[in-house]
Amino acid sequence: MNTSLDVEQPVRPARLPPPSDLLGVSTAQRRTASLEESIRRDPGRFRVLTGDRPTGLLHLGHYFGTLHNRVRLQNLGVEMFLVIADYQVLTDRDVADHLTEHVEGLILDYLAIGIDPGRSTIFAHSAIPALNQLLLPFLSLVSVAELSRNPTVKDEIAHSRQSSVSGLMFTYPAHQAADILFCKANLVPVGQDQLPHLELTRTIARRFNDRYGTGAAVFPEPDALLSTAPLLLGTDGTKMSKSRGNAIALAASADETAKLIRGAKTDADRHITYDPATRAEVSSLVLLAALCLNRDPRLVAEDIGAGGAAALKRTVTEAVNEYLAPIRKRRARYAQERAYIQQVLRDGIERANTVAETTLKEVRTAMNALY
Ligand code: TRP
Repeated sequence: MNTSLDVEQPVRPARLPPPSDLLGVSTAQRRTASLEESIRRDPGRFRVLTGDRPTGLLHLGHYFGTLHNRVRLQNLGVEMFLVIADYQVLTDRDVADHLTEHVEGLILDYLAIGIDPGRSTIFAHSAIPALNQLLLPFLSLVSVAELSRNPTVKDEIAHSRQSSVSGLMFTYPAHQAADILFCKANLVPVGQDQLPHLELTRTIARRFNDRYGTGAAVFPEPDALLSTAPLLLGTDGTKMSKSRGNAIALAASADETAKLIRGAKTDADRHITYDPATRAEVSSLVLLAALCLNRDPRLVAEDIGAGGAAALKRTVTEAVNEYLAPIRKRRARYAQERAYIQQVLRDGIERANTVAETTLKEVRTAMNALY
């Protein structure tokens, strides 16, 4: 059983790019391969910014999609900033509920998986005034048309729980540019849905430099580091998401995990195979076991074979619970140390404020607005 947290993901064939690379996915995939090379050679050249909205517990979809990769980058020696995007919670709902609980829960999840606050800066963006002030000049650099055609924002509007669309919904990608550029991050590990936001960040950086630069660029144009992890489905066969009750939280108990997997959707074919295109639900369960066991999913499926759904679920439950055991143990230990968790956040906020104030000063100098 593999319980190490910084193992490389098994290499999988890249998916074929769409015919018209609308989102820039295939470009980003090619770029990602060469970036990985440079990171291995010289991790000190990179500064990563990434983060999460504090809306609930992180789950296995997050873990194998991005969290695992963050720990890997940190351990390779890349400097990391993790934004807890508390203002961004308000894009699709009226109030941010249980904020303190969710923020502390995120920090517990981060520490449990191996994020080291000595090497990575964890902060909430609402606590960084100079970061937020960047939003004003940044908004002046993008058109309403550009903000309106963002495909991810359009999708979020379609799924929003609000009756009308707020101005924050349209402008949060520019705010996200401030999250990234305040610390001059040059690398942003993202899933495909975040590519339009990163493109906007690059546009803002370029336009700011063009409009106000005098020689040296103020902002880097950050690169996307695309996640190579395959998509894990929730236990009902749809996208894994906290709000759908189909997600296995990192913080869940072994019993809760067993129960969720017992209720997972499978299909009528008794023989277990790994075939994501035609057997999405069964294959996602096989994949989950394979990721936890660090094995090829086809071999995992072969071993189960005629054992059917019951044997598959047993295998998945054992693999997940064993993989998560050390993470859960660390999480439970940190949960006893609330003062420490709060200190981690205060330290991160202090550091982020120092960095943001320096950047804002440069921005105002470039704009001739330093009085
Ligand atoms: N939009 C991200 C999410 O919904 C969170 C986020 C906020 C973020 N600012 C960011 C991610 C900057 C990467 C870079 O999870």
